[in-house]
Amino acid sequence: MKALILSGGSGTRLRPLTYSQQKQLIPVANKPVLFYAIEDVIEAGVDEIGIILGPNKDQVIDTVKSKAWDVPIEFIYQGEPKGLAHTIIVAEKFLDDDFVMYLGDNILRDGIVRHEKRFSSMKSDASVLLTKVDDPQRFGVADLNQDGSIRRLVEKPKVPPSNYALVGVYFFKPMIIDACKSIKPSWRDELEITDAIQWLIEHGYKVDASFVDGWWKDTGKPEDIFEANRLILDDILTRNDGLIEGSRIMGRVIIEENAKIDRSVIKGPCIIGEGSIISDTYIGPYTSVGIGCQICGTEVEDSIIMDESRIINAGKIVESLIGRNVKIQEGVALPKGHRLIVGDNSDISL
Ligand code: DAU
Repeated sequence: MKALILSGGSGTRLRPLTYSQQKQLIPVANKPVLFYAIEDVIEAGVDEIGIILGPNKDQVIDTVKSKAWDVPIEFIYQGEPKGLAHTIIVAEKFLDDDFVMYLGDNILRDGIVRHEKRFSSMKSDASVLLTKVDDPQRFGVADLNQDGSIRRLVEKPKVPPSNYALVGVYFFKPMIIDACKSIKPSWRDELEITDAIQWLIEHGYKVDASFVDGWWKDTGKPEDIFEANRLILDDILTRNDGLIEGSRIMGRVIIEENAKIDRSVIKGPCIIGEGSIISDTYIGPYTSVGIGCQICGTEVEDSIIMDESRIINAGKIVESLIGRNVKIQEGVALPKGHRLIVGDNSDISL
């Protein structure tokens, strides 16, 4: 089996971060979201991975190549995001075998091994992953028959036929390529994978549903990224490879190599990236501090601070997503409890 991981698209709901950074590269618990997908498909035993690229293609290639992976990876340029089914047409040459398509902004707690086994044993033509959600209007939704089989799939319906959302992982046989070529663009001018699967159903192919038990996150919006960060940090184990002086560390905390914690309080679960310097600071639960950051005289909680950012005497920062190489420092007085979503290379005086 092969894997097609989607790392294109423009990430409009995550601007301004996505002006300078491909959304699948945003770190959750200090790991690019895309890496969770790559790890899952490798764990499921795929022989080869194709990664779909969009506007920031070089960034994605560089990030993926910064690590050694156990299976070969091919990069496939899509260009403008014309829909999930369009990526399959673009990748046609690569897709000469059964494959799993994995949206690069999705994270599943329990991976996809169980679902891959089911697809291999069921002999179906396609298998979609479903899970119950409170807000089905945001997703593709399945209308199910009483025996749990799929009657119909609809993309972001105003009146959802059920609470079962399509998770961004799909198993296909190569005939999905014909389906993708047979459909027309939707109201949002995209070739929808949901329509291509619906085409399979209408032409008598067997489409199976596999239900996801553990948590699943589509990290399309900042709230989803915070939630994914919390969920991943909830499962970390304590590790200290850094240097701690005159500080109190509580709960499960990962401190990476060459990080330095001085006169500070760190309350897990949280992670402090390689070479980061934390001094006279409180780092509270559900915080991920990237590589080479400096945080001084500040309280940070429930936030993601990306690589090389500097936060000096900035009061209290909560539920904030702070890009790379951002500088926030004491300046004009502001109310306590800043909530910030700041793009890469921003420079803010507080
Ligand atoms: O996350 C699950 C949902 O993903 C499903 O419930 C929906 O049925 C499915 O259509 C999809 O909906 P989204 O609106 O969330 O898709 P989005 O446009 O965010 O794209 C999903 C991923 O695929 C994202 O990582 C970007 C990438 N992508 C997207 C498009 C449209 C591409 O690589 N190329 C594209 O042309």
